[in-house]
Amino acid sequence: MDTLTALRERKTVRGFLDKDIPKPLIQEILLDAHWAPSASNQQPWHFHVVTGNTLCTLNENIKAARKKKQKTYDPSKGKTIPPEYVERTKTLFRELRPLISSLGDENRSFIESGSYRFYDAPAVLLLSMHQDLPSNRLLDIGMAAQNCMLSAHARGLGTCAIALTLLYAEIIQETLAIEKDLTPVLSIALGYPDPEFPINNYRSPRDNLEKFVSWKD
Ligand SMILES: Cc1cc2nc3c(=O)[nH]c(=O)nc-3n(C[C@H](O)[C@H](O)[C@H](O)COP(=O)(O)O)c2cc1C
Repeated sequence: MDTLTALRERKTVRGFLDKDIPKPLIQEILLDAHWAPSASNQQPWHFHVVTGNTLCTLNENIKAARKKKQKTYDPSKGKTIPPEYVERTKTLFRELRPLISSLGDENRSFIESGSYRFYDAPAVLLLSMHQDLPSNRLLDIGMAAQNCMLSAHARGLGTCAIALTLLYAEIIQETLAIEKDLTPVLSIALGYPDPEFPINNYRSPRDNLEKFVSWKD
């Protein structure tokens, strides 16, 4: 698949087939990820590839931690999000509602319970960054993450970037015995898309060029 096709076609996958991904295929995706640019070529990303029994244990541990204490996700991080951004979230969830309803669920519980078990994907790529790096290095992590997701799509796999689960970062850190100086910043559920899963065919909207581009001639 050429780059432009991958760019235009990729969309979030939240339903995966119960099928393992061959390790060499994951390795290729990680190699694609590591060709991402980074400031001064610092390559601040670290990937933990979580599969098999370890992924089952991680899912169980997150479930148990949620049962003990439900943490609330605050996407605004204490700031007031300007209305136009809030409106886009509302549009997303309004459009997702009938698809999620067809699964006998409602938006919040589907996204929350799904995210906390990585939508039952057979693999999770956990991206971490050294705690002493400045937060603008997260841009580089984002670039590696996007490479990952485009590569996965081009190679016949699907992905869902998941930030919600990082509310339980300490459980992730403990279960995977992640070095203390690494901070998990994003997880990516990875697997073969289930073509029958209704929400997988949903394409989220985007604004027109005029809305997000200012030409300064
Ligand atoms: C940084 C980031 C965090 C995200 N976190 C979650 C998440 O926790 N749960 C989830 O279901 N989707 C999550 N998503 C997926 C977004 O909802 C999705 O990318 C967005 O609606 C646009 O849809 P598309 O990826 O199909 O183009 C996340 C995406 C990004 C980039």
